[in-house]
Amino acid sequence: MASLLITHIGSLIGLHSENLLMLRGAEMAMLPRLENAWLLCENGLISDFGSMEALPAQLPNELETFSAEGGYVLPSWCDSHSHIVFAAPREEEFVMKIAGKSYEEIAAAGGGILNSAAKMQLATEDMLFQAASLRLNDMIKQGTGALEIKSGYGLSVDTEIKMLKVIRRLKENFELPIKASFLAAHAFPLAYKNDHQAYISIIINQMLPQIATEGLADYMDVFCEQGFFSVEETDQLLSAAAKYGLKPKIHANQLSVSGGVQVGVKHQAVSVDHLEATDEATIAALSNGNTIATLLPSCSFYLGIPFANARALIQANAPVALASDYNPGSSPSGNMNFVLSLGCIKLKMLPEEAINACTLNGAAAMELSATTGSITKGKKANLIITRAISSLAFLPYSFGQSQIKTVILNGKIQ
Ligand code: NIG
Ligand code: FE
Repeated sequence: MASLLITHIGSLIGLHSENLLMLRGAEMAMLPRLENAWLLCENGLISDFGSMEALPAQLPNELETFSAEGGYVLPSWCDSHSHIVFAAPREEEFVMKIAGKSYEEIAAAGGGILNSAAKMQLATEDMLFQAASLRLNDMIKQGTGALEIKSGYGLSVDTEIKMLKVIRRLKENFELPIKASFLAAHAFPLAYKNDHQAYISIIINQMLPQIATEGLADYMDVFCEQGFFSVEETDQLLSAAAKYGLKPKIHANQLSVSGGVQVGVKHQAVSVDHLEATDEATIAALSNGNTIATLLPSCSFYLGIPFANARALIQANAPVALASDYNPGSSPSGNMNFVLSLGCIKLKMLPEEAINACTLNGAAAMELSATTGSITKGKKANLIITRAISSLAFLPYSFGQSQIKTVILNGKIQ
């Protein structure tokens, strides 16, 4: 494999030390950098970097050189929450929403997750793989270099497994690391509307054993929300998943303060995601803890619901990550550059905080931060090269416009 030397880097961003696996509170504003730099990638990893004033004397034999022409180099975005395996978009609901219907009203009218689940039943694994591949290729062009993908539009044994197999195929066919979360507890199928325990029993006794045997999931996810899964049901599901070694990453407090954060923390969730509705008890539950608060501002933007209180979380010394929530119903975009902008504009995060939230803390929310999420020797050479920009703040400031010129995965220009 040829090595790659990137020269003339305007600023090399995110030089965290290898033992720093997650940032919390005030640390989130720390984003070490080196101006006028070079970076060497060998065997798919970052092997060295330094100042242009001191290029290494000894360079590998088979070497490709690439000038960043004054552009910035950052670690790729680590998007820790997505639902990119879906059969069809839902623009019709978008129009209902414009006409004034809420997310809950659309779901009650047969739209929402159950609409996607009905379409999912009919889709073949090949169709789903092709459609998700197109989305993933777009995300890679927009700088994503690590991704979590959820099931959750199957809601039956065969279809949940079909979705997880598509995610496995994406893992096998793409250069970026991918983690899979099992989200059969996303909504109750209509047939189980009045018999929640019957569906929960299918998840626990039929789906979980098969998924665990085949190693199809890395995490267990539950949509803990009024009208979806209660705190008690979430607790029951997370206990069952723990027996198979599946840690939680859960949907909590999206539409209301649901108690989902507390039950997630109780089960040592890697992350609790959404938190658009958050009270003091929620913040206190995450204060000084290791469960990452993953905020999804493009969901707030698209649904017109409140934005999460990132400042209070940072103030409470919690680790905060940002992710896209790419899905057909509440965030039909996987563009992490826009998420970064919203993190600054709407969540009032400083550019440094928001970049850490989109990189190292996103990686931590997938338990990948030992191998990706910062410019650190020995980590994956998954990188973003920007145009020559005037400052770091220009990235989130120029919202809706891509400043990315080149992306690199495993030391290879894409
Ligand atoms: O994260 N809230 C639950 N799940 C998704 C939306 C799913 C859908 O509407 O299709 C979310 O926002
Ligand atoms: Fe989600």
